[in-house]
Amino acid sequence: MTASVGIGVLGAGRMGSIHARLIARSVPEAHLAGIADLNREAARRLARELGEPPTFGSIEELLASPRVDVILVATSSNRHLEAIRAAAAAGRDVLCEKPIALTVSDTLAAISAADAAHIRLQVGFMRRWDPDYLKAKARLASGALGRPTLFKSLQFDAEPPPIAFADPAVSGGIMVDMGIHEFDLARWLMADEVVEVHAYGSTVAHPALATVGDVDSAVVNLRFSGGATGTVELARSTTYGEDVRTEVLATAGSVWIGHLPFSHGSWSGGDAGGVLAADGTDPAVPRFEAGYAAQTRGFVRAIIDDQPVAVTGPDGVAALKIALAADQSVRQGQPVAV
Ligand SMILES: NC(=O)c1ccc[n+]([C@@H]2O[C@H](COP(=O)([O-])OP(=O)(O)OC[C@H]3O[C@@H](n4cnc5c(N)ncnc54)[C@H](O)[C@@H]3O)[C@@H](O)[C@H]2O)c1
Repeated sequence: MTASVGIGVLGAGRMGSIHARLIARSVPEAHLAGIADLNREAARRLARELGEPPTFGSIEELLASPRVDVILVATSSNRHLEAIRAAAAAGRDVLCEKPIALTVSDTLAAISAADAAHIRLQVGFMRRWDPDYLKAKARLASGALGRPTLFKSLQFDAEPPPIAFADPAVSGGIMVDMGIHEFDLARWLMADEVVEVHAYGSTVAHPALATVGDVDSAVVNLRFSGGATGTVELARSTTYGEDVRTEVLATAGSVWIGHLPFSHGSWSGGDAGGVLAADGTDPAVPRFEAGYAAQTRGFVRAIIDDQPVAVTGPDGVAALKIALAADQSVRQGQPVAV
């Protein structure tokens, strides 16, 4: 492998654009070797902004380029499996946005294709690379805080996605699309497995989501194998912007990871208007920019050092199983074993 790894970005939408910009700017061990999208113009637009790397209209064309060493998959989630299969057949390592696929069987098929071709497959759980989450993980893993007893995490998006994206057939729906990050954190931070979930969902904020069979807000209670409990709250929109927070209580301490600064007085509405009144954050810096860049750097380092990737296919399967159980629980109105 050359000193600078050539990354081909597949998908020039919202997430592919973020990744491509970060590769160009914040991943010194790699360079942007190509951008592909079925919407060729989207790929060209992004390329113009980033020093004109070659653009392509399909994964096949991208993989045909000898300059493309590895692939970063940022296509719609229902198109990940075909991309991983094609990359595996071409012997290219893959960093795949979450979820690896929308069903357990498709996820296992992706992992099998990667294993059979001896390529690396890393899943894009970028919170595991975020400096604040890493600090919390290190504190918990040190044992100094005792035994984790309660996990609490919330993820509220600023704006609801277009219905065509939110459609569970495309994104997996709120549990698989959004919740999967929290379910992965639950396993990782608690160092335990979730064995049962009980979830509720509603479409009060965005009734249109019901037309594609999904909800806009949900709460998911978690039971861990070691006896701990947890809760995850999800929402497709707020009036004040994106909000991502996680807490873990433990027998001898606790960790808090939050987008919002700690304060006795944060508020939305009134004299603050529709935004949250709080000091200390720069809304111009996307919350997980450092995490996305570190994630890609971690993937590239694994390749350069010929090491396995840190966040694996089985991590993707485990988090997906929790998300699917939560989705089932909303539909059935009952607890569901994972
Ligand atoms: N980790 C995160 O925080 C995070 C955030 C948002 C999205 N995502 C993930 O990123 C992925 C993309 O989401 P998005 O919001 O960028 O979606 P998007 O709809 O904005 O972009 C997807 C792009 O992929 C292209 N595309 C679809 N199928 C293709 C194919 N077979 N070949 C080539 N191009 C194809 C589309 O034309 C589109 O430009 C999803 O898997 C999503 O779950 C992750």
